[in-house]
Amino acid sequence: MKINAKEFDHRARTVFGPVYPLIADQILAYTGINQGTCLDLGCGGGYLGLALARKSDLYVHFLDQSSDMLEIVNSNLAEAGLAQSGTSILANVEEIPLPDASVNLAVSRGSVFFWEDLKSAFSEVYRVLAPGGMTYIGGGFGSAKIKEDIGRKLDEKGRENGDKWRNLVKRNMGVEMRQRFLDGLQAADIPDYEVRQDLEEGTWIVIRKQD
Ligand SMILES: C[S@@+](CC[C@H](N)C(=O)[O-])C[C@H]1O[C@@H](n2cnc3c(N)ncnc32)[C@H](O)[C@@H]1O
Repeated sequence: MKINAKEFDHRARTVFGPVYPLIADQILAYTGINQGTCLDLGCGGGYLGLALARKSDLYVHFLDQSSDMLEIVNSNLAEAGLAQSGTSILANVEEIPLPDASVNLAVSRGSVFFWEDLKSAFSEVYRVLAPGGMTYIGGGFGSAKIKEDIGRKLDEKGRENGDKWRNLVKRNMGVEMRQRFLDGLQAADIPDYEVRQDLEEGTWIVIRKQD
């Protein structure tokens, strides 16, 4: 995917800012995992992983295929005084440079929709998950209210901005995308998974690795 890191980051900090702490709370509540190692896949500027690091005892690996995004992650970690709580990794999710069974919680927001080879990506995520580990991979905006606010803020910059975003969300949260996830999970032979779809919280792929 082609993405302008600076422009994306500006939007992540402003329009999307309230999304990340709320999703971090939802992840911690749903998975009950608040210590060990976390992997934020397709982390962008790292705002989800940063929120998790602030709210838990997790050490976070921030993985992205864009070195521009990881520069932003590194400066965000330093600025937040969290340099000891995380590290950045330049890689494709289809080839994760981490040892087997080394990750307790693998999260990802707004990135899975762009992954080209879901079979390889899910196989890799499952390989690095530790026994008892879980994933929370998908997309969402925290609540219906925040989602509405985002649409309104984008409309203020020109109705076409809001419409473009609403069409993207419709595609990402639709039945065809869900089926694509299910096909990828099956192809990767993942034994225990669910694709949660919640009007408030969004669409999330939860994989569990048995103890
Ligand atoms: C829409 S941004 C979302 C960023 C961040 N997770 C957020 O919610 O703000 C998608 C990110 O996924 C990354 N990405 C897309 N495909 C990837 C892949 N196959 N491997 C690693 N990163 C990927 C992009 O570089 C980009 O930073």
